[in-house]
Amino acid sequence: MHATKDPIDTQGLEATKNLMELQAYLSKKYIRTAIMEISIFISKVGQSYYHIKRPLFVFLNDNEETKQQFSRDVAPWIDMSYPNWLVFMKNETNIDDYFDDIYVQFDCTFMTSKIYLEGEIITEVYQIDRGAELRKNLFATWNHSTGILTPKLSLYQRRNNLFGHTFRVMSIEDPPQSMISRNIKNEIIGFKGFFGGVIELLQKNMNCTIIYQDNDEWGYELDNGSWTGMIGSLINNKTDIVAAELMMTAERLDAIKFTTPLYSTKIRAFIKRPSSSPIKWAAYYAPFSMGPWSILGISILVTGASISFVKYIEAANKINDEPASLTDTILGVFGALCGQGMEASSLDPIRIIHFVIHMCGLVILAAYSAALISSLAVKTFVMPFTTMKGLLQDGTYRFGVVSGSADYSFFQNTSDEVLSVLFSEILVKEVDLPSNYLEGLTKVCDEYNYAFMTVDDAVAQLSSSVNCILVPLDTISQTSIGMGLRPGSPYRGILDSNLLLLRDSGLMQRLLNSDWALPGDNEDSLWSTVGIFDILPLIAFLLISIILCLLCLFIEKIIEKKKIKLNREIKIVRKLKLNIKNSLKFQARDNKLFKINSRILK
Ligand SMILES: *[C@@H]1O[C@H](CO)[C@@H](O)[C@H](O)[C@H]1NC(C)=O
Ligand SMILES: *[C@@H]1O[C@H](CO)[C@@H](O)[C@H](O)[C@H]1NC(C)=O
Ligand SMILES: *[C@@H]1O[C@H](CO)[C@@H](O)[C@H](O)[C@H]1NC(C)=O
Repeated sequence: MHATKDPIDTQGLEATKNLMELQAYLSKKYIRTAIMEISIFISKVGQSYYHIKRPLFVFLNDNEETKQQFSRDVAPWIDMSYPNWLVFMKNETNIDDYFDDIYVQFDCTFMTSKIYLEGEIITEVYQIDRGAELRKNLFATWNHSTGILTPKLSLYQRRNNLFGHTFRVMSIEDPPQSMISRNIKNEIIGFKGFFGGVIELLQKNMNCTIIYQDNDEWGYELDNGSWTGMIGSLINNKTDIVAAELMMTAERLDAIKFTTPLYSTKIRAFIKRPSSSPIKWAAYYAPFSMGPWSILGISILVTGASISFVKYIEAANKINDEPASLTDTILGVFGALCGQGMEASSLDPIRIIHFVIHMCGLVILAAYSAALISSLAVKTFVMPFTTMKGLLQDGTYRFGVVSGSADYSFFQNTSDEVLSVLFSEILVKEVDLPSNYLEGLTKVCDEYNYAFMTVDDAVAQLSSSVNCILVPLDTISQTSIGMGLRPGSPYRGILDSNLLLLRDSGLMQRLLNSDWALPGDNEDSLWSTVGIFDILPLIAFLLISIILCLLCLFIEKIIEKKKIKLNREIKIVRKLKLNIKNSLKFQARDNKLFKINSRILK
């Protein structure tokens, strides 16, 4: 860039020829160049300089006119940090004087080159803040023999010190990620939690000063386009950095700058775990599938039968006296499999069968008990619903989000049908929305049928601070969390590079994983208890068995009574028959006697 209309007029033929040669040389290297007067640049290129990719603006001299035009006509409106700059300076020029009324902001790469011995020495200049001291660092040297020696460190490794620059940092009471600590006079003395840790490390690494501020609202966009809460403070230049769990939403990205994401998390609604678990009717036969059960049944029959068979043979050989009945033996085998003893036998074949049954029973009992115990101890709960749609259809649940937060605007401006109905029918009725996640989750526990939308990592840390068990619904969306910066902030680069360093060194993860102790943390008991409903099937089985037994007994009794009666009747009949027979006999005898008598009489 040059100031005068025609460089040929002012710089002479030699200089112009060199310039043309340089242009030709660069174009061979596929570097596009344009030689332009500053006033033409303003009128022709203007704001569209953003279309030039990675531009390097070069001033071939530091004439008063060039400097004047640059500092007066270009520097005030151009985004100084977008292009890189290079000024060739005369040896006698004082760099500080040259930049007297140019603000070279912190993230701007501005280089000056001066002749030094046989070559050039390139210095980079920047200011930490408007009006602050101009900082000059050696950037590179060049001469004929060595060529250019460029710096080994990256931009923010060279500019890693803010020399006590003051940042106003704002946060919000949002345990566990950000908490505000105050002294007795209620003045803010610092932040705690994950963001407190990050800010502390950044302050140490960047050598800056922090002024702590607080706010009680996250910030959302009003209808007239202005923002409330912490986002509003950033936009209105009331603060420089917002260190809190800010979700990077599209609307916010339009309004403010964000640092690189610190972590990402899932957004979803949480409800209180239902108090009852379903009755597990299948628990008692579920440990084995049909196959093992049938094998078990068959082996009971087979072993029972073989014992009976052996006993029968031995009884036939008169070695043993009483052959047991098959049903008794099978019942005995079943008992053995359930861990009962069996009647000992003095016969070796039977002993061997007993041994096999007992070994088998031991293994099966162990496997069965293990499966049964674990299925009883692990509780599954019937969720009333698992999706937001279910929550809406259920109709008995209230629903809340943190007030004035990205969560709220998420619902306000959603294209999802279910969520927008949820917003207009349920969410807007909530008058007293919680101001942070802890408050919301406490509400979930304390109030009847209350669902609350939050992020996973908050629940992971807060679940020990609330007095019920929270269960998640399906994920609504994934979100990234970053710190907010003022829209024109030049410090994003240094913050990002420091944050990336924290991430690469694992410090960020350590901060994320550390438990920030909260008041009222309760040690969750590790035991899950077995309630009466869990063993209901067993009780039912017992009751049914008892009833069946009683029924059998009753029927047996009746049958027995009938039998006795029948026997008595049979006896009576037999006696009767005998009597009749006897009487017939007597009659016959009488008849005979009568005949004899009559014959005698005759
Ligand atoms: C930090 O900044 C102060 C100026 O506020 C300066 O005196 C000090 O030397 C700096 N510390 C380091 C390690 O550079
Ligand atoms: C937007 O509205 C709020 C109040 O509703 C007001 O405080 C603010 O000044 C308005 N902003 C603009 C830019 O009009
Ligand atoms: C949602 O946000 C976009 C961008 O900010 C806006 O253009 C649109 O009108 C909003 N929609 C609703 C329903 O508020």
